[in-house]
Amino acid sequence: VIHPVILCGGSGTRLWPASRKAAPKPFIPLIGPRTLFEQSLDRVAGDARFGEPIVVAGAAHADLIAQQAKGAYRLVIEPEARNTAPAIALAAALLPEDAIMLVCPSDHHIADQNAFRDAALAAARLAQAGHLVAFGIQPDRPETGYGYLRRGAAIDGGFVIDSFVEKPDAARAQAYCDCGEYSWNGGIFVFRAGQLLAELAQYRPAMAAAVREAVANGRSEGSRYYPEPSSFADIAGESIDYAVMENTRSAAMVPVEMGWSDIGNWAALHDALADEADSAGNVVRGSADLSDCRDVLVTSDGPRVSAVGLDGVCIVVRDGEVLVTTRDGAQAVGKLPGASGQ
Ligand code: GDD
Ligand code: MG
Repeated sequence: VIHPVILCGGSGTRLWPASRKAAPKPFIPLIGPRTLFEQSLDRVAGDARFGEPIVVAGAAHADLIAQQAKGAYRLVIEPEARNTAPAIALAAALLPEDAIMLVCPSDHHIADQNAFRDAALAAARLAQAGHLVAFGIQPDRPETGYGYLRRGAAIDGGFVIDSFVEKPDAARAQAYCDCGEYSWNGGIFVFRAGQLLAELAQYRPAMAAAVREAVANGRSEGSRYYPEPSSFADIAGESIDYAVMENTRSAAMVPVEMGWSDIGNWAALHDALADEADSAGNVVRGSADLSDCRDVLVTSDGPRVSAVGLDGVCIVVRDGEVLVTTRDGAQAVGKLPGASGQ
């Protein structure tokens, strides 16, 4: 079986005022009634090819997770947030060496579940053969917040990755999009637990040793696992992309078209709701009257929103806060005092 590992971290400040510290992006319903976290569990539930999920999260979110996760799962509670490399390594250290892990973010939207599962199975075959496998997404803009994978030789069900560049600057992102040989890294990974730990030990020996310590001296409480805090606190936070994927010689990718979005901001949510849009591209959730508007997103939890003559604007009303941004400005919402000081 494939062992799903669901990562819950990050604050999602760019989706303020819907996403708050107390209930960040993975735990609020953004698309449909199920939260993104629930959807990430649904994706692997009731399918014998996937084992019991391991959820890795901070203590602050343990209650939300318990409320939303319905089936059996194991919860690993990080003493402190140290980014994705230590979080993934914790899960790897709790699994048998030969276990195939499917590492998934908890805050992405995937429209086509079958395409996701098919890609996971193809990736598992490559992982079995000794690859650290990423999901490759077709880029449609020079986004600088993503990793870029350069496709090399074709192999069974995918490609070797010739180079993995995490978060390039704008000029390089543009060049990667223009040349057509790159995919985005979807942030979903498949590998053998033992191989991930061995490669981490090669490229980040201190981190690997500290994670091993934290797990050797941690404790279980029912389905919860608490790594030992003081070894974990010594770790320098780093993402798996920088710590391992940029360095490994075993990287491979499976290309997948599954209607993927990481819903990075309100404009991205607007795009992900395209099938609800009217003929002018407006999406309305809640009470709103739009006149002569195009490409407008309105979502309100109460007050009626009335707007005239807008083009490319997102309006969000939540819990007594009102956000108005152009689609282009949506990426900067996290820097507003309301979002960062909440
Ligand atoms: N448990 C835990 N602990 N989870 C974490 C932590 C942590 O310290 N830090 C981040 N996460 C979770 C986030 O909640 C998210 O679900 C996932 O790990 C990825 O972290 P992000 O912080 O969202 O990464 P990113 O978006 O900057 O970049 C990654 O994803 C992109 C695609 O969305 C990279 O893998 C990029 O290469 C990739 O393109
Ligand atoms: Mg992200």
